[in-house]
Amino acid sequence: MTTYEEQTRAGLRFPTGFTWGAATSAYQIEGAVAEDGRGTSIWDTFTKTPGRVVGGENADVAIDHYHRYREDVAIMAELGLSAYRFSVSWPRVQPDGSGAINAKGLDFYKRLTDELRGHGIDPWLTLYHWDLPQALEDAGGWPNRDTAYRFADYAAAVHEALKDHVHTFSTVNEPWCAAFLGYASGEHAPGRREPGNAIRGAHHLLLAHGLAVQAMNAARVGGCVNLYPVAPATNSEADVDAARRIDGLQNRFFLDALLTGAYPEDVIADLPVDFGFVQPGDMKTIGSPIDVLLVNYYSRYLVSGAPGGRASASAAPTETASPWVGSEHVSFLPGGHPVTAMGWEVDASGLTEILARVAREYPPIPMVVSENGAAYEDVLVDGRVHDTERRDFVEAHLRACRDAIDAGVPLEGYFAWSLMDNFEWAWGYDKRFGLVRVDYETQERVLKDSARWYAEIIRQNRRHEPTDS
Ligand code: FCB
Repeated sequence: MTTYEEQTRAGLRFPTGFTWGAATSAYQIEGAVAEDGRGTSIWDTFTKTPGRVVGGENADVAIDHYHRYREDVAIMAELGLSAYRFSVSWPRVQPDGSGAINAKGLDFYKRLTDELRGHGIDPWLTLYHWDLPQALEDAGGWPNRDTAYRFADYAAAVHEALKDHVHTFSTVNEPWCAAFLGYASGEHAPGRREPGNAIRGAHHLLLAHGLAVQAMNAARVGGCVNLYPVAPATNSEADVDAARRIDGLQNRFFLDALLTGAYPEDVIADLPVDFGFVQPGDMKTIGSPIDVLLVNYYSRYLVSGAPGGRASASAAPTETASPWVGSEHVSFLPGGHPVTAMGWEVDASGLTEILARVAREYPPIPMVVSENGAAYEDVLVDGRVHDTERRDFVEAHLRACRDAIDAGVPLEGYFAWSLMDNFEWAWGYDKRFGLVRVDYETQERVLKDSARWYAEIIRQNRRHEPTDS
């Protein structure tokens, strides 16, 4: 083990009070889909539809976190985490997405957050990580404006019940994915391939965010985006235009809306829809002030306006359409970086780049990296997982965070994705992102080497913190 001073020299010393976290989401870990009055979500329906998920898998049991949350919080405490980012399952709390609140569902999150606080771990609550109540999808889903108002009601109910337990609430996880993978490419639930409705959906997800921020007016609230640096393959006009388009749809559409209350003109011009669904006042609502920006970062894109590459850099193995509405001709090229088991290119410097860009181009806002991590082909040997690649991945990205702080970015925390192996959406259980291995037969949890290493970095950094913090 390297010494504290060596780690300091290596750039892994962070400011006092930096948030050391790990993240998960409800559908990916909880299981217990039919317990205590939980309703059906679009992911329950999607996973039961043949051909949607590798191996036909579902998260009916997942990693049984609903029953094992105490054990899981004990693992977080062992790692020394100062915060845990999790999501609330909307259908567990409000089975039909409107009307009656299910007290038993809320109780689970009270028990969880009590347990976290009892261990000195700060709960970061995400209201929506993609598990829309099926009843709302049946009424039109995110392309239906009413869903945004239902979300605000749900947010108010969760906030009211948990405001004494939770300090930081965030609204919608990665609205890009919820809109474009759910309604354009169809690789995520609800699996629709309706490009125009993906844009409407994106607007209503953002509107839902703004309405929820207003509905929880006393809370500390964040918005979440998944950002990618996008570079053109050459200086040709076509490639430069491709990069502008993909950057526009992936990054600027969401950042501009959340942080400046406007959509970028060039992106609107790229999109084959009439923006008549944007009603007066919507953009002001979407731009409601937030306290923190949650940035999820995994990879970067190299794009071309000429055919020849892949239609999408991160598509699921199931049959899908392009998520890039209005820019379907753009192709994604290998950038020459090593790739993870997802085929995602690893470039830690892209994290510094994208954080510095937000700091430079937008009004000042504190940020955290709310997801960052990698899937690799883990091997269990004598009860240990020597996941050197994942350890190196986290180390490189932490160093990138440190570089961002040194460059003046107000970066206040880092959440590894994920605390534990879990149900990776269209990939089922095939891809393992955890710092902690889970045996899906026995539900046994085993700390991988990456978890032990992360715990040591946290310990070194937190040892100067006041003990009562
Ligand atoms: C993000 C999701 C998260 C997980 C990681 C790998 O896009 O927010 O649930 O699937 O990717």
